[in-house]
Amino acid sequence: ANKNAVFLGITILICLIAYRECASNYTFPSYFLFGTGTSSYQIEGAWNESGKGENLWDFVTHNTPEFIDDRSNGDIACDSYHKYEEDIALLKNLGVNFYRFSVSWARIYPNGYPYNPNQEGIAYYNTLIDALLAQNITPMLTIHHWDVPQRLQELGGWTNSRMVNIFTEYARTLLENFSDRIKYWITFNEPYTFCNEGYGSTRYAPALNMSGRADYLCAHNVLKSHAAVYHLFNNTYRSRNNATMGICLSAMWYEPSSPEDEEATERTRQFIIGLYSNPIFSTNGDYPEVMKEYIGNRSVAQGYSKSRLPQFTSDEIEFIKGTFDFLGMNHYTTRLARNSPPTNNMVSFNSDMQTEMWVNSSWPGGREPIVPSGFRKLLTWIKNTYNNPIVYITENGYGDNGELDDYVRVSYYGSYLEALLEAINEDNVNVRGYSAWSLMDNFEWKSGYTWRYGIYSVNFTDPNRPRTAKLSATFYKNVIANRAVGD
Ligand code: NOJ
Repeated sequence: ANKNAVFLGITILICLIAYRECASNYTFPSYFLFGTGTSSYQIEGAWNESGKGENLWDFVTHNTPEFIDDRSNGDIACDSYHKYEEDIALLKNLGVNFYRFSVSWARIYPNGYPYNPNQEGIAYYNTLIDALLAQNITPMLTIHHWDVPQRLQELGGWTNSRMVNIFTEYARTLLENFSDRIKYWITFNEPYTFCNEGYGSTRYAPALNMSGRADYLCAHNVLKSHAAVYHLFNNTYRSRNNATMGICLSAMWYEPSSPEDEEATERTRQFIIGLYSNPIFSTNGDYPEVMKEYIGNRSVAQGYSKSRLPQFTSDEIEFIKGTFDFLGMNHYTTRLARNSPPTNNMVSFNSDMQTEMWVNSSWPGGREPIVPSGFRKLLTWIKNTYNNPIVYITENGYGDNGELDDYVRVSYYGSYLEALLEAINEDNVNVRGYSAWSLMDNFEWKSGYTWRYGIYSVNFTDPNRPRTAKLSATFYKNVIANRAVGD
């Protein structure tokens, strides 16, 4: 028996030493902030309460329920409109420094037009912000997370250049009402996703499916809107709370399928990330050269009267360039890219992605490859390409079927946070904070409630929408408490 005990003791010791050797010894720097995120349509519910108008996701889910995998909608969602105090208790329990949420545009301007804001909408966010601050949780406010008021969508949504002024006026109302208390502002969440998937395909509302045209018009108007709001903030509102403003971009990492595909892979990065980051974060501004070449010059050479990629004037390039204090990066996974030479027949308006490159895709609604090394490479690419900007990881997370014992999510977070620590300590990337997506299970767009990202589970069949901690919530809580992974 004694021998056995000694043997067991030695085994445990060896395991502990091995574990400590493998886990990095780095800790997060003292300035580093932890948070979690959500968005209005995905969690609030109360879709027609307190003066809120209809937005495009209300419209699509009500009129074409089959558009959503489980025919569900965000009418009630997590009911956070009523249960925000409970959400704040969850945040408090996690010990986060900040909470990233978005404002529902149609709660502030029910029909989108920026006249007479709905005071009940403003009151709701005032209450939420004050309640967060009372608990010492810093609010990070996203101005637009995909829920365009339906009346504006009927005017073409983001393909309509009038949106620039309309959006700026909406943002002005938020700045006017909340800038005394908000430190972190985000203009747009993942424009690539809503422009490309919403206007260039049928994956998200409004499912316009006009690839190669509407997606670029959308991007163009979004970039101008972002810059207009940034200047307004910078000139008039920044000083009220010594605040900062940025934009959240979706950024997977793209890895070449073979050494011959390196150029095509960089082209993919430019088409997907650079489309937004080059005009804002690069020293020259404007769209990436490779995009201007492929869908500008080449479309003209192929008989189009004009570039399909809209052009900025030199004043506009200057106006957009440098409109950031930080880059918000939403990162989930890594893809393999390989070259796919353009066909002669560009007249079909097929997606430039399909004709000019190939991306191995299984998104959304499928388990994503877990590639923490891709996260680290992406961070280095951002650092080197855009002169080391301040970065907040505004989203990172893992989708599954919603199990409470979410071991895979725990190992996902563990490995990605380790990669982040290495990127900070060894590659000197300028990452200042990290936000886990998501605080709780919520309406995952086209996947409805079939695909879950929460570290808290929500029971959507119970009218009270009770929340329960998953293993990943406990794991994340420990990371925050220890400021390290794995202790
Ligand atoms: C990106 C989006 O910002 C968010 O709304 C979505 O739920 C997550 N990624 C997961 O797909």
